[in-house]
Amino acid sequence: MCQISGESPKAAVTKGYSHQAQVPMDTLPEWTVPSTPCGWARLTKLLPVLCSLRALCPVLMARWWQMPSYRREKDAEKCLFYRESIAVEFLKFYEKTAQMVWNEFREASWNYVTNITQKNQEEMLHKDIERSQHTLYFGTRARLFNATAFQNPIIRHMLRKVQHMGKAALPAKELREYNKILTYMETMYSMAEVCMQEGPCLYLKPDLEELMATSRDQKELLWAWQGWRDATGRPLRTTFERYVQLSNKAARLNGYRDMGALWRMEYDVENEASDLEHSLEQLFTELQPLYLNLHAYVRRALHRHYGPQTINLRGPIPAHLLGSMWAQSWVNILDLVLPYPKKPLEDVTKIMRDQHWKPQKMFEEAENFYTSLGMLPLPTEFWIKSMLEKPVDGREVVCHASAWDFYNGHDFRIKKCTEVTIEDLLSIFHQMGHIQYFLQYQNLSVMFRAGANPAFEEAVGSVATLSASSHNHLLNIGLLSFQYQDSEDEVNFLMGIALEKVAFIPFSYLVDMYRWRVFDGTIHKHIYNQEWWSFRLKYQGVCPPMSRSEDDFDPGSKYHISASIPYIRYFISLVLQFQFHEALCKASNHVGPLHQCNIYNSKKAGKLLEEALKVGSSQPWPEVLKRLTGESQLSAKALLTYFRPLMNWLVTENVRHGEILGWPEFSCNFEEREKETVSFLGLELDAEQAKIGQWVLLVLSLVMVLTILMLGHRVYKLCNRTTAGDSGVYFLGMLMEPHQAAQGQWILLGLCLILFVCIIGLIIKNFTQHSKKPPWMIAELWSHP
Ligand SMILES: *[C@@H]1O[C@H](CO)[C@@H](O)[C@H](O)[C@H]1NC(C)=O
Ligand SMILES: *[C@@H]1O[C@H](CO)[C@@H](O)[C@H](O)[C@H]1NC(C)=O
Repeated sequence: MCQISGESPKAAVTKGYSHQAQVPMDTLPEWTVPSTPCGWARLTKLLPVLCSLRALCPVLMARWWQMPSYRREKDAEKCLFYRESIAVEFLKFYEKTAQMVWNEFREASWNYVTNITQKNQEEMLHKDIERSQHTLYFGTRARLFNATAFQNPIIRHMLRKVQHMGKAALPAKELREYNKILTYMETMYSMAEVCMQEGPCLYLKPDLEELMATSRDQKELLWAWQGWRDATGRPLRTTFERYVQLSNKAARLNGYRDMGALWRMEYDVENEASDLEHSLEQLFTELQPLYLNLHAYVRRALHRHYGPQTINLRGPIPAHLLGSMWAQSWVNILDLVLPYPKKPLEDVTKIMRDQHWKPQKMFEEAENFYTSLGMLPLPTEFWIKSMLEKPVDGREVVCHASAWDFYNGHDFRIKKCTEVTIEDLLSIFHQMGHIQYFLQYQNLSVMFRAGANPAFEEAVGSVATLSASSHNHLLNIGLLSFQYQDSEDEVNFLMGIALEKVAFIPFSYLVDMYRWRVFDGTIHKHIYNQEWWSFRLKYQGVCPPMSRSEDDFDPGSKYHISASIPYIRYFISLVLQFQFHEALCKASNHVGPLHQCNIYNSKKAGKLLEEALKVGSSQPWPEVLKRLTGESQLSAKALLTYFRPLMNWLVTENVRHGEILGWPEFSCNFEEREKETVSFLGLELDAEQAKIGQWVLLVLSLVMVLTILMLGHRVYKLCNRTTAGDSGVYFLGMLMEPHQAAQGQWILLGLCLILFVCIIGLIIKNFTQHSKKPPWMIAELWSHP
């Protein structure tokens, strides 16, 4: 009974951890060595150790006074430590301490990200170490319990959570290094700016994002695109390599093959073999026709705008022309691709500005949406402590929007550099979904204060934005003034949504496909950038607008990669939010097409959603999904239903143009353009002309060969005649001495030979230039099915 798979408990504790324990091993409490009765009195020995974690002291003191009651409990039985009742106490103890430690870490992180200074960084790193010590301490001990033997499934589940230690499993020194690396990468990203040659420097938010969204000048877009990648990705490359090593080491110490496997674990269901990758691939395949049709249509529109030099109708789209720094949402180029330009959508951002909206009002509007469903209002503390706008007092801040739970049941905040735009309004609805989730599960154990899986957390806010961005809702809150008339308006509307959601499908899918391969070593570190672009080309059909090399590190120019945040949740959430939407619309008795549904004010829909949020992560996600939607699996059906009117329209439109879906000519345009300008005798010719030029060169060289042979023959004859003493021959129509003529012939022959060599040289040069392609374009794989 004392043995865990044949090992002594002490060995089980120390195995793999002894060299790194924050808590010196000799002070490990005897309750890990149950050769003596493992009573709770032993806990007293922990006091000095735990007091090194200052945060624990008050809790621990409280415990201390309760001790006698445990002492009274006669635990003559050996190995009490393994009993379920002890596990319950152990978990209660964990619960109390975790709340405090996590809360302090949250506070310190908040201070740092809303005020980037050296001092705040040190404080945060310090708190992070404390948190890791706590995790390690309890994790190590939790692994001693033989949880599978316990009756109560909740206890089993909780123990499993505590056993999972994440990065805290790393040896102390490496943990410190890892924390520094994580902070460094996120900070580099957040503080990066791109400077003009003469003039100001631009931050990502709002300057560069605005430029990418609004500029239609290729040179300017390219400048921002390249500048951002030089400022963020490039300098992180070597750090990232180390990050991968340490991440994998941490994962292995938790019993996973690599960090990717550890990330995927969040979607596992107990006792069920899951093949996440396979089911995701299936979803992606189901969604692909919709994406390919949108891609082909948008490519045609860009071709109309930028012309054939820039856009190849059979190729991928250059990544800087899609209105976003990462080509992940294309909603900002709606004006270029609007199906019925004669019926332009109203400019909601402009209306908001005309109505003098303020960030505060935007948040109130979002709150109002949730309360209309009968869900919980925000606590006043939220309004006092949140950062709703970018501070103007000169502080550096991390602008990336996020919602925060401080694990004390009353403190919830949002950090966002709000601008008055419709995109930001919808993003606030999304962030507010996180807060609503926090509020709903605030009474659960800290171990269960999380979404049923990470994608649930994202889908809650997004399902609200689906209703909030419906025409009906915007009309109701006064942000639109016209009722829709006909199907053309509908198609225009759906195009706007599709540019955000459908365009995002492959990007949200590929980011972690890529990182999983990086973590498992399939992608070696010397081809990080090349493979990144392979994925982008394969799934998204976009290509870099200029040549890239392995000095660049373009994945690092995306926040979630520098900040080490898993991304697959966004792909899953994309599918999930439509499943939710369909179910909630049904509950609210909606009739008509799914895209017209607005659940605002429906208490029934609110109740259904609330039931799902309340349980946090205490139940397996398929069960939660089933209660909410009636099905326990992810399904792309609802999403396809939502976009069906648009899909039908796109197919008709693409067939009409004889559009080619996919990108069989996978080479990028910049390649051709570079080739054109330098390749042919320094002339700017297009590919066709250059080809003709080559034939001309070839023919010329043949003519030269013939001329040389003929001349050679004549020289030979002349020389013979000279020796024969003949008088006067014609050379170039002039009568002259034979030896003079022979000289002339020799000069001509020499000239012809030089020309011949030149032409051959040119031909060779041209051919070699044409085969010079960046390595990621060589694979024939990307000619799309
Ligand atoms: C930012 O942090 C520093 C400490 O590093 C502190 O002195 C300063 O008051 C903080 N600024 C604000 C506005 O909170
Ligand atoms: C299982 O444990 C939880 C948490 O301690 C408790 O609330 C619940 O009542 C227990 N269930 C059973 C069946 O004992």
